[in-house]
Amino acid sequence: MTHQQFRTQLLEWALAHPRPLPWKGIDNPYFIWLSEILLQQTRVEQGLPYYLKFKDAFPKIEDLAKAPEDEVMKLWEGLGYYSRARNMHAAAKFVVDNLGGRFPNTYKDILALKGVGPYTAAAIASFAYNLPHAVVDGNVYRVLARIFGISTPSDSTAGKKEFAILAEQLLDKNRAGQYNQAIMDFGATHCTPKKPKCKDCPFTTDCVAYEERAITQYPVKTKKLVRRNRFFNFLVLSKKDQIYIQKRRDKDIWQKLYQFPLLETSQAIEHTDALLEQKKWEDWFGKSQLKFVKRSKLFKQTLTHQSIYAYFWEFEFSEDIVLEEFGFVLEERKNLSKFAFPKIIDWYLGDNSLYLNLY
Ligand code: ADE
Repeated sequence: MTHQQFRTQLLEWALAHPRPLPWKGIDNPYFIWLSEILLQQTRVEQGLPYYLKFKDAFPKIEDLAKAPEDEVMKLWEGLGYYSRARNMHAAAKFVVDNLGGRFPNTYKDILALKGVGPYTAAAIASFAYNLPHAVVDGNVYRVLARIFGISTPSDSTAGKKEFAILAEQLLDKNRAGQYNQAIMDFGATHCTPKKPKCKDCPFTTDCVAYEERAITQYPVKTKKLVRRNRFFNFLVLSKKDQIYIQKRRDKDIWQKLYQFPLLETSQAIEHTDALLEQKKWEDWFGKSQLKFVKRSKLFKQTLTHQSIYAYFWEFEFSEDIVLEEFGFVLEERKNLSKFAFPKIIDWYLGDNSLYLNLY
């Protein structure tokens, strides 16, 4: 099929399948940027409530720029890929401090913002300013690979180049925003990874993958996703109504979220004896006696590249341990809900009724 036919049929499909969303048809580049950051690697249904929350909490980029870091992280809690929140906050500060609060209006300057890659820059540039830059992401790889029968792996250098060139050729340069939104929506709702709606698709007569009865084999990828297992032992150390928590600062998952003192082990451990053998245990507690209360069930959280298994070990302690020098702070239980925790800790807190114990 010709490029012109593809464009026309795609735009016709979009007209026939409207998908009203609050960031469509607006021209406020700040809100468009906000929506695109929130939607990176995220389904619309999941990102939508966060978009509404952020827009409400920070109606102007200045509001976001001056918000305390913990407030931004708390609003982001549960959405995952937390580096997006940190980069978004830094970019808002940059726009306010260096650009007089005016959101950049060229592709190059948008791309220079922290947390904005080529896909997001093309989306913002086309939606906010109708600039002719084509979006290319997993959805676009899938749609183009299937319809045009491209078998170069989308995660290879050659493949990335080939898809990028085709995407730019296909773009309707006079209606870049409309076209980009159409291909995103088509990929997300129609030409889906597992059960695409081929029976009701304008491209079936031209779609190479459909013709080959090989829809799910496109796009081709070279790398298989591997996940490593990690075993976390969170120490829930209570002193009356207070619990030790700590902000995660290492270059690792969940940076800037809060947690309980953590002992990571190479295997799951079942007994407190194994905790006492950890070097950090000695550093933190020396010979102090802690009263073991109970161990939680095993929690599991699956991330893109890691599976996290966690036990929560509950201890009570008296006056003689001091963990502040290790970066831990004692917080009232009733205040825990003010901090942003990784999901696996929220699940434990919810399950365990740590919050409820108070009432
Ligand atoms: N995913 C990323 N950006 C999107 C948008 N503007 N609409 C729908 N899904 C998206």
